[in-house]
Amino acid sequence: AERRVYRATTTAPVNIAVVKYWGKRDPKLNLPTNSSLSVTLSQADLRTLTTASCSASYPAEEGDSLVLNGEPSDVSGARTQACFRELRARRAALEAADPSLPKLSTMPLRLVSENNFPTAAGLASSAAGFAALVRAIADLYELPASPSELSLIARQGSGSACRSLFGGYVAWRMGEAADGSDSTAEQVADASHWPDMRALILVVSAAKKGVSSTSGMQQTVATSGLFRERIARVVPQNMAAMEKAIRERDFASFAEVTMRDSNSFHATCADTYPPIFYMNDVSRAAIRAVEQINAAAGRTVAAYTFDAGPNAVIYYLEKDTEAVVGTLYHVLGGDISGWKDAVVKGLKPSLSL
Ligand code: PMV
Repeated sequence: AERRVYRATTTAPVNIAVVKYWGKRDPKLNLPTNSSLSVTLSQADLRTLTTASCSASYPAEEGDSLVLNGEPSDVSGARTQACFRELRARRAALEAADPSLPKLSTMPLRLVSENNFPTAAGLASSAAGFAALVRAIADLYELPASPSELSLIARQGSGSACRSLFGGYVAWRMGEAADGSDSTAEQVADASHWPDMRALILVVSAAKKGVSSTSGMQQTVATSGLFRERIARVVPQNMAAMEKAIRERDFASFAEVTMRDSNSFHATCADTYPPIFYMNDVSRAAIRAVEQINAAAGRTVAAYTFDAGPNAVIYYLEKDTEAVVGTLYHVLGGDISGWKDAVVKGLKPSLSL
């Protein structure tokens, strides 16, 4: 038997949405109820590193496996299986067209993944994780797939993962097709288009989130009336305003849309029955601190946004670092346990893009 081990390694960055994905119109294919837009963070600060390998010498009965941060991790979930299936089908098509190619599609897959940030901290690790997993296997299989096609596969692992296949400012277009073929990510602008953009992550709590994004979305779609208003009017407006703000490098507009969209998303969560609360008292203190910083500056220098957990992400421009990071540290330093850890671990408090 062929003993050779085939291998490929890649990294994928974390992204943080400024117009949020919240709601699935097709839970099986991860098709969203609305388009979304995110900023991809610097790989130096937050990324997943994944190696994919396969070999005919790997025992078939062990099947496919994943080791995440040194611990065996389950790959039997429908989302991971969908990614494996899509990638194997593309490889099998190449092998059918060219019989001289090794039959990698039939070999067990082994994946080894490491995050350079605390996985449990609720820092959108699934986005970087699935993006890296899909690209590592696509590289291993030498697929001629574009980032857009890979985004379509990563989307089936975790919706937000489709945006981590691109750097800079990235839109995920919801699409219309029932099979999801037009629900892919695309770059709106490269990071160099607005190079002084910064993101600060405030780790309010490293505890795992209470309500998963999947069940939170399902409950919101099923029970919130406000949600219907959000997808019909609020998000389309925010997407258009956000793309214009990015095009024009208009930070005040970027910030206002970011904060309004985060508020709108959390309002739909509070409007479900029973209500879902992702933010806590420290999250709300961070919102008030940002309002005070902006009032004191006499212009909008900082924007907050929150995902499905209490941690805050603050966007600001490099030139306002002192006013934003200095003040937040002064006001919230004692309440944010993760702050000291992040600095000690060498994660700079200011995460450059
Ligand atoms: O990709 P998921 O299923 O973990 O959902 C992510 C949802 C939010 O982070 C709240 C918003 C977003 O667009 O990333």
